[in-house]
Amino acid sequence: MTGQSDFSSAKKLSGMGLLFAPTLNHGTAFTDAERAALGLEGLLPSSVESIDRQADRVRQQLASKPDDLERYIYLNQLADTNETLFYHVVMANPAYFLPILYDPTVGYACLKFGHLYRRPRGMYVSLKHKGRIREILSHWPVKDVRVICVSTGGRILGLGDLGANGMGIPIGKLQLYTACAAVPQGALLPILLDCGTENASLLADPLYLGLRQHRPSDDVMTVFVDEFVEAVQQVFPNCCIHFEDWRGTDAVRFLARYQDRVSCFNDDIQGTGSIVVAGLLNALKIKNEKFRDQTVLFFGAGSAGLGNARMIVAAMKLEGLSDDEARRRIWMYDINGLLEPSRTDLLPEQRLYVHSHAPSKDLRQVVEDVKPTILIGVSTVGRSFTQPVIETMARAVKRPVIFALSNPTEKAECTPEQAYEWTKGQALYAAGVQFQPVMYDGKTYLPGQANNFYVYPAVGLAVYATNTRRVTDASFIVAARAIADQVTDEQRNLGLLFPLQKDVLEAEIRTAEAVATQLFDQGFARVDRPKDINAWLRGLLYRPEYAPVA
Ligand code: NAI
Repeated sequence: MTGQSDFSSAKKLSGMGLLFAPTLNHGTAFTDAERAALGLEGLLPSSVESIDRQADRVRQQLASKPDDLERYIYLNQLADTNETLFYHVVMANPAYFLPILYDPTVGYACLKFGHLYRRPRGMYVSLKHKGRIREILSHWPVKDVRVICVSTGGRILGLGDLGANGMGIPIGKLQLYTACAAVPQGALLPILLDCGTENASLLADPLYLGLRQHRPSDDVMTVFVDEFVEAVQQVFPNCCIHFEDWRGTDAVRFLARYQDRVSCFNDDIQGTGSIVVAGLLNALKIKNEKFRDQTVLFFGAGSAGLGNARMIVAAMKLEGLSDDEARRRIWMYDINGLLEPSRTDLLPEQRLYVHSHAPSKDLRQVVEDVKPTILIGVSTVGRSFTQPVIETMARAVKRPVIFALSNPTEKAECTPEQAYEWTKGQALYAAGVQFQPVMYDGKTYLPGQANNFYVYPAVGLAVYATNTRRVTDASFIVAARAIADQVTDEQRNLGLLFPLQKDVLEAEIRTAEAVATQLFDQGFARVDRPKDINAWLRGLLYRPEYAPVA
C-alpha cells in the first residue's frame, strides 16, 4: 500500500545489496531458508537471531554510550542500516527515547549536523532547484507519500537560524510519528528547503553542508515555496505538508497562504496551541469553569504566544464567543511591555490582542490591573514570574492557572515549587519541560509537561489514514479535547493536566480517532468512512517486525 512496500517492490534485492537496504535488512535475523534463497550465505555469522535478541544487543550498546548525543548518533546509524530493528527498540519505550531522538538532543545534533553527517536521509530541495522542483521530488523512490515534514532551518528550537543543519528536525519529528503513533514510516518524507542561512558561523564552517548564501527576500521565498507546495500536489497528491521550525514571520504567513488551499498544518503554531488548550481544558475542569469566561495574559508575544492565542480563540469560539469577543479576553506582554494602543512596534498578528490600557513595563502591575485567570509564559526569560507577580495573581483568582512554558529547564518562568508555594497549593501548573513531582504541605503534586508530541503524531496518523484534503484549526481543538479527556479525575486531583507518558501509543490512537472522525464529519477525508474508526486505525498501524522478503 504505502512506503515500505513501495521500497520493497522497487527492486528485488539480494546478497550484499539487501544487507545495505535499511527498510529490508533483517541482519542476523534472516533465516537459513532466506539466506539460501537471497544469496546471503557466507555474508552473515552462523547464528540466526530473533528481533528481540537483536534488540538486547542494541540496548546493551546504547547503555555503553557516554551521553545522549552519542546515543542519538548510534540510533540514527541503526535506522540507516536496519529500520525495523530501530523502531522495534524505540517503540518498546517511546517515553525514554523521546528526549534522545528529539528535544533536547536533536538541538545539539542540529548544531553539529555537518560534522556528524553520515548518510543522506530524506530530501534536500534547494534554491538551485528553482523551476525544477517537481522533477527533483520525483526522485524519491516512494510514490504514495502521505506526510512531508518540511523545515527551512530558519528557527530551530530556541537555537535560531541553523540553515541546512535544521534537517535533524524533520527527520526527528517524523521518527516520532512512528515511534509514538505507529504511523507507517515508509509514507513519511522529511525535507529540508535549503534557502541559505543568516548564521555567519555556519557560512564560515568548511563542513557546513547547505547553500553558502544569505536568505533571499520574502518575495523570492514566496515564489520558491509556492513552487514547492504546487510540486508536492502533483508528485504526491495524497500528501499533507507539516511545516516545522520556520522563521516566525514565515511560519505565520505561509500557513495563512496555504491552509485553505492544500492539506497542511504548522506544528509550532497549531500543535503547540493544541497541547496548551488540552492542559487548559483540564485546568478548567478542575476549576469547573468555561474557556469563554477566562482572562488570559501571555508573557511573551512571539510565535508560541501567538500560536497559543490563536487556538485559545478557536476554543472560546466553540463556546459561542465571536472572534472579537474572544480576542478581548486575551492580553499580551513582551520585551517592550504590555501590548497597548500606543505601541508602534507591533506586527499585524500582535495588534489583534491590543486593548485599552496605559503603557506599562511592570508585569506585577499589569497582573493587578488585568486580573488574568490564566498566565502563560512563552518569553524565554527564566524565573520572570516572581513571587510578587504570582501572589498578586493568586489574590484575585482562587485557582490561578500558571503555565511556564519556556524551555530548556532554566528558562521556565517559574518552577512548580514556586508556583505551589506562592499560591499556597492553589496553582494549576504546567511547564514546557518535565519537572519532578512536588511535595507541598503534605500533598504530592504532579506538574504537567505541555509537550506537543501528544498532538502531531496523532494528527499524522489521522491524516495518513483519512488521506485528508485539509487540516484545520478545528482538528487541533478536537485533538486537544481528546488528549484532555484521557486524564482521569483521580489524576486531575493530583494536578495532572496531560496523559501519562507511559501510555503514549494508546493516547495517540484515541486522539487520532477523534481527529479522523472530525475529518470524516467535515467531508475532508478521501477514503470511505469505516464503521469502527478506532479498529480501522489499529489495523493500519506500523508494526516493527520483519516481513518475509523472499
Ligand atoms: P520568540 O522569540 O518568537 O518569542 C519570544 C517572546 O518573548 C517575544 O515576544 C519577546 O518580545 C518576548 N520576550 C523576550 N524577552 C522578554 C522579557 N524580558 N520580558 C517580556 N517578554 C520578553 O520565541 P517563541 O518561539 O515564541 O518561544 C518562546 C519560548 O517558548 C521558548 O523558550 C520556547 O522554547 C518555548 N516554547 C515552548 C513550547 C511548549 O510547548 N512547551 C512550544 C513552543 C515554544
